[in-house]
Amino acid sequence: MSRPTIGLAGLGYWGPNLARNFDELAELRWLCDASSDTLERFTTRYPSARATTDFDELLADGELDAVVVATPAVTHYELSKRALEAGKHVMVEKPPAMTAAEAEDLLATAEAADRVLMPGHLLLYHPAVQKVKTLVDAGTLGDVLYVYSNRKNLGKIRKDENALLSLGVHDLSVILYLLDEEPSETWAHGNSFLTPGVEDVVFCYLRFPSGKIAHMHLSWLDPHKVRELTVVGNEKMVVFDDMELERKVTIYEKGPWQPTHTYGEWQTRTGDISSPKIPSDEPLRLECRHFLDLVDGHGDPLRAAQDGLAVVRVLEQLQASLVAAPA
Ligand SMILES: NC(=O)c1ccc[n+]([C@@H]2O[C@H](COP(=O)([O-])OP(=O)(O)OC[C@H]3O[C@@H](n4cnc5c(N)ncnc54)[C@H](O)[C@@H]3O)[C@@H](O)[C@H]2O)c1
Repeated sequence: MSRPTIGLAGLGYWGPNLARNFDELAELRWLCDASSDTLERFTTRYPSARATTDFDELLADGELDAVVVATPAVTHYELSKRALEAGKHVMVEKPPAMTAAEAEDLLATAEAADRVLMPGHLLLYHPAVQKVKTLVDAGTLGDVLYVYSNRKNLGKIRKDENALLSLGVHDLSVILYLLDEEPSETWAHGNSFLTPGVEDVVFCYLRFPSGKIAHMHLSWLDPHKVRELTVVGNEKMVVFDDMELERKVTIYEKGPWQPTHTYGEWQTRTGDISSPKIPSDEPLRLECRHFLDLVDGHGDPLRAAQDGLAVVRVLEQLQASLVAAPA
């Protein structure tokens, strides 16, 4: 069977990772970037791929099966929509759109065109997140009480996406996936210290209909490089630490308990601390493989986009609250 043909738009910071994976897993047929200088840097590395600064050239190629969009977030909706309307399957970097209305429109366009639409929520393919999901769903943690995440670093400082859109979208996709519900209450506070209107530091709070709560601390102005998510259950607690090389997931047998002799007073219970083996597969490789499987007709072509729509819906609420909040 011939390998699907892929056209990749956007070869900035992230696009080259997608180029490497799709070159190995499929036929990388087109490389597209608005900057000819950027494009030139990749033509020798991928000599069999055609290069263009014009996205329409990809869309006009009847031999092209799918388009991968890794351009800045504000362009995702328009490029993805045009690709779907041209009959291409689409994998689009997160967030797939800037508003829920746009994300809904993309979903409807994909459905009408009978094409795959998959937003690139990378962390959902992380074997450690899959492990945490298994623990949550199996009830190993007892009832989940709350979740919090920290994603901070003195890292890439962006001018076109704030920390919520750039960093928070990762944690938000995982939190919604783990809890399997959408929040009924959201707020975000943050501040733009460097570029007006682009928040470098954001704190988010989510409350869910079940009573669970979640918090995210997002920043690219921080001395610590932290990528951590903690799920607190009433029986056990689990930490996913993506900065750890081996112990990505740690399970703590800790929790509150009420011994009968204390007449209703709560005490803490501590037990073993363990760390399950987590496969070292590259999450991006798994994500790209999933997209190719969908293009190949295996799996629900719109499921990821439906989950992605919920992420955009919550992002939009958080963003509105961020703008409305006093600095
Ligand atoms: N999944 C992840 O972990 C992850 C990590 C980093 C970035 N991203 C996402 O990837 C996307 C790109 O981020 P980045 O850091 O690579 O940005 P970037 O600014 O470094 O690169 C974007 C590239 O797109 C090109 N471009 C802009 N408009 C274009 C258009 N209309 N047609 C073709 N090319 C165009 C630019 O010339 C640039 O080279 C963002 O949505 C970002 O959120 C995802």
